Amino acid sequence: MADRSYRIAVLPGDGTGPEVVREGLKALEAAAAKTGFRYDLEHYDLGGDRYLKTGDILPDSILEELRGFDAIFLGAIGHPEVQPGILEKGLLLRLRFELDQYINLRPVKLYPNVDCPLKNKGPEEIDFVVVRENTEGLYSGMGGFQYKGTPQEVSTQIHMTTRFGAERAIRFAFDLTRKRNKDKQLHLVGKTNVLTFVHDTWWRAFNEVGEADYPDIRREYAHVDATVMWFVKNPEWFDVIVVENMFGDVITDLGAMIQGGMGIAAGGNLNPEGVSMFEPIGGSAPKYTGQDVICPLAAIAAVQMMLENLGEEDAGARIEKAIIEALGSGKIKSLSAGKMGMGTAEMGDLVAGLI
Ligand code: IPM
Ligand code: MG
Repeated sequence: MADRSYRIAVLPGDGTGPEVVREGLKALEAAAAKTGFRYDLEHYDLGGDRYLKTGDILPDSILEELRGFDAIFLGAIGHPEVQPGILEKGLLLRLRFELDQYINLRPVKLYPNVDCPLKNKGPEEIDFVVVRENTEGLYSGMGGFQYKGTPQEVSTQIHMTTRFGAERAIRFAFDLTRKRNKDKQLHLVGKTNVLTFVHDTWWRAFNEVGEADYPDIRREYAHVDATVMWFVKNPEWFDVIVVENMFGDVITDLGAMIQGGMGIAAGGNLNPEGVSMFEPIGGSAPKYTGQDVICPLAAIAAVQMMLENLGEEDAGARIEKAIIEALGSGKIKSLSAGKMGMGTAEMGDLVAGLI
C-alpha cells in the first residue's frame, strides 16, 4: 500500500508566480487535511531574480535534487529584465527535457459561470484534452546560424521528430481517450499536406498504433489551421487531441481562452515513469506583480492535476468541486486580472474554505 506521503518541490518563479503558488499551496493544505495524505515542501528560488543576482539558471546540483521529488509545482518563468529565451530554455524547457516530461497535458474544460468568448457555447460544448508532445519538434534546439550579422545570414531551426517520441505520446493519448470514456475519439492534429516528413511519421504511428492496439477508439485527423477554426466554431467535436510540440503550444493558448482564459488554465508536464511538473499555463504577468489582482484558479487547478497524478483522486476531485462551487458562489466577478471583484489571496481562501 502506498504510504500517501509526498515530497513536492515548489518553484514559485517570477512575477506573479509566487502569488498564485501561495494560493495553490492553500488548496493543497486543505485537501491534505480532508483526505489524509501528508507532504513535505521544498522551495527553490529559481527564476529571473536569482539569475540577475548570481547568474544561476538551473544549477546541476539542483537538477539532481529535483529528480528525487514526487512532483514539482511551478509558478511562472519570465522576467522583463532578462532577454527572451534565457530562462525559458535554461529553466523551463531544460526541466521538461532533462526530466523527460514527454507529455504536456492541457485540459480545456469550461466550467459553469465562467465567461466564454464564444457565442452559444457552454460547458456542454467545451470539454476536451490536448496531449502535447513535450520534448521534440521545433523545441529540440537543433539548428543555428551561418554568417550571422551579415547580409548573407542564414538561420535554421530544425523540427526533430522521432518515431519513438511520437509513438509514446500517441499511446498516452489513446490510453487517456479510453480512460475518459467520453466520445472514444482521438484527433491527431498536424499538417500532413505541407510538412510531409515529420507529419507523415506522426500519421503512420497514429494509424498503426490505433489499428493494432486501440480498435475501440475512433481515429480522426485535422490539419492545425482547421483545428483552430473548429476550436472557435465547433469545440464540441473534440474529445482528446494528440499533437506535436509547437502546434500544441499554439493551439493550447486558444484552448485556454475558450475555457475562460489564463486565469484558469492549468497544465501538467508528465513523465509517467518519473517526476512530473505542474503549472498554471499563463506567464509571469510582471506588470501585475505584488498587486493581489491575478486569478489563482489556474495554479489551484495545477495542484488538482498534481494530486490526481500522484494517485490522490479524491483530493483532486475535492479541489475541482471547490473551484466549481467558488465560481458558482456569485462572488467572483471575472477571472481577468484586476476585475475579479476580490483579491488573489481572498480567492485562494474562498477555494480552500470550500475544500
Ligand atoms: C508554454 C509556454 C512555453 C512553451 C514557453 C514559456 C517556453 O508558452 O508552456 O506553453 O513554449 O512551451
Ligand atoms: Mg505556450
